[in-house]
Amino acid sequence: MIKKIKVKSPANIAFIKYWGQRDKKLILPYNDSFSMNLSNCYTEVKMEILEDEGIKELYIKDYQKTSFEKNEGEALEKVKKFFGIAEKFLKKKIKFGFRIYSLNSFPKKAGIASSASFFSAIALAITNALEMERKISQKNLSILARLSGSGSACRSIPDGFVWWQKGKESSDSFAYSIAPASFWKIFDMVLILSTDEKKISSFEGHQKVLTSPFFKLRLTDLRKRIKMIRRAFLKKDFTLFGNLVEEEALSMHFVMMTQKPPLFYWSGKTIELMKEVLTLRKNGVEVYFTLDAGENLHLIYQKKDELKVKKYFKSHPLVIDLINNSPSIGARFI
Ligand code: DP6
Repeated sequence: MIKKIKVKSPANIAFIKYWGQRDKKLILPYNDSFSMNLSNCYTEVKMEILEDEGIKELYIKDYQKTSFEKNEGEALEKVKKFFGIAEKFLKKKIKFGFRIYSLNSFPKKAGIASSASFFSAIALAITNALEMERKISQKNLSILARLSGSGSACRSIPDGFVWWQKGKESSDSFAYSIAPASFWKIFDMVLILSTDEKKISSFEGHQKVLTSPFFKLRLTDLRKRIKMIRRAFLKKDFTLFGNLVEEEALSMHFVMMTQKPPLFYWSGKTIELMKEVLTLRKNGVEVYFTLDAGENLHLIYQKKDELKVKKYFKSHPLVIDLINNSPSIGARFI
């Protein structure tokens, strides 16, 4: 073995969502997006760099599993492809093999950005494998992560609260931190309602946005919402922030549901719980929901409501498990 590299990278929850690619090869989005890195939803990757160029292996240990399983399917193919992309992007020849062990602290492909944490971790590990980790800027590392195909992976590179500017071309479509994790003590509780993997990938979904009659309207709406949410965030106006976060999640899901073919990521349980969040709010607990491409719900709240939110959802009959997150730093070596 030449060397062993260990990295850890968070998943992120988007407050302004990325949905739709204007360039599917370069993974360029239609709009800016904005997210928070999650402290307890992460991927840990151990990458062994091997002399034998022929060895290209991936082992994955999923949420609540006790051992690693060899993956010889789509995930390995994506990783191999990504090595090729990195080789071109970093302008360095890859003359080694690899064995990757990847461990997830949360269910994958269930709308909790598992590919974002995975590919941001792989991007960082590759820079070390190619002895580029000191030379590459954070901006270029986030571009590399974006090029993996999982665009939201670029937002898992910088720390804390992260903005992905859509950019005009590949070289200025990157993510940067707008505030460190310590800036605002807000929380994200993931309610696991199902660990089933989604049947249609985000990648396929992104390609069909223009078939929704509401997509153009969403983009017009977003111009205003993006400005408002950035201001509410910087002023720490939680009520305005939370309302915009919910509005944004619904806007993205309306587009998903009105694409052709329609994408229904919500389940009956999701809607039940959304309604309960509204009732809780009426009763004085300030909690807001958001969700990505999956039925699991994310709840956003402040320290003052932490105990009430935890108590309410801890023994909820529809909730299989919950993961409490605070804002986190981005991808790093461990
Ligand atoms: C719905 O193409 O980054 O989560 O590769 O499945 O992780 P995966 O997804 P990606 O798109 C995910 C978009 C989203 C919204 C968001 O995170 O902005």
